[in-house]
Amino acid sequence: MNYLITGANRGLGLSLTEEALKRGHHVYATSRSIKDERLLQLKEQYSDQLVMLSIDVQDESSIEEAVVSLKKNSQYLDVIINNAAILNEREKTIEELDIDACAVAFDINILGAMRIIKHFLPIFHKGPRASILNISSEAASFTNAYAGDYPYGMSKAALNMLSEKLKMYLKDDGVQVLSIHPGWMKTDMGGEKAPFDPDETARMIVDLAERKTEVDSRYSFVNRDGSAMNI
Ligand SMILES: NC(=O)c1ccc[n+]([C@@H]2O[C@H](COP(=O)([O-])OP(=O)(O)OC[C@H]3O[C@@H](n4cnc5c(N)ncnc54)[C@H](OP(=O)(O)O)[C@@H]3O)[C@@H](O)[C@H]2O)c1
Repeated sequence: MNYLITGANRGLGLSLTEEALKRGHHVYATSRSIKDERLLQLKEQYSDQLVMLSIDVQDESSIEEAVVSLKKNSQYLDVIINNAAILNEREKTIEELDIDACAVAFDINILGAMRIIKHFLPIFHKGPRASILNISSEAASFTNAYAGDYPYGMSKAALNMLSEKLKMYLKDDGVQVLSIHPGWMKTDMGGEKAPFDPDETARMIVDLAERKTEVDSRYSFVNRDGSAMNI
């Protein structure tokens, strides 16, 4: 299958790229910098399966250019993984927030995913093998709401609504649309104290994409093992 992954140069995005390649999939690994050392190493190892594309999810023209390059080679996608995100304005009270910084988080975490889907959907193979996987967070949950991480939690809640709307939009095509909480992982974002390894989460997410894991949830917001998350 053909995967498109955003933020593929580090953290969970890099683990997802490597896991999909190991399983024989073709991956369009997108990142702001395609000169990242680790991605270049993967390119050497999986030269026939990996294409690196420069995409900044805030820059719509970078997405349009990537679509043009895929179209030129008559390529299509089976799986889109919106993984790129930032976690900023941490632990600030509402009085302390920098609203411009909040706007950047919204621009990346939700509008970025919308830009990707808007432009890649025309070259997406809709059908029972296809998936749109938006990487969300338990920080989006009403049930677990806490007073902090305002732009992050709010933008991820909007991402969950985007997933639900897309699920409705694509329901007759058999496309699987999920908003996945990947667990607290040891990445630049999650920090060293996190209990989970992003490689393990990546295996579970690729299992979901391959439909090896049964999803047990009324809504698209699920845990990495396919179980329902609290809305
Ligand atoms: N880590 C956790 O514990 C945890 C928990 C819950 C949910 N998540 C979610 O899991 C996903 C992956 O997180 P992570 O821990 O791997 O984060 P990370 O280590 O901070 O990596 C974030 C990735 O997003 C990319 N990115 C940021 N802004 C971008 C932009 N404008 N355009 C393109 N790429 C951009 C970064 O690229 P650059 O290198 O160019 O900055 C990087 O590749 C995110 O959606 C996150 O919200 C993580």
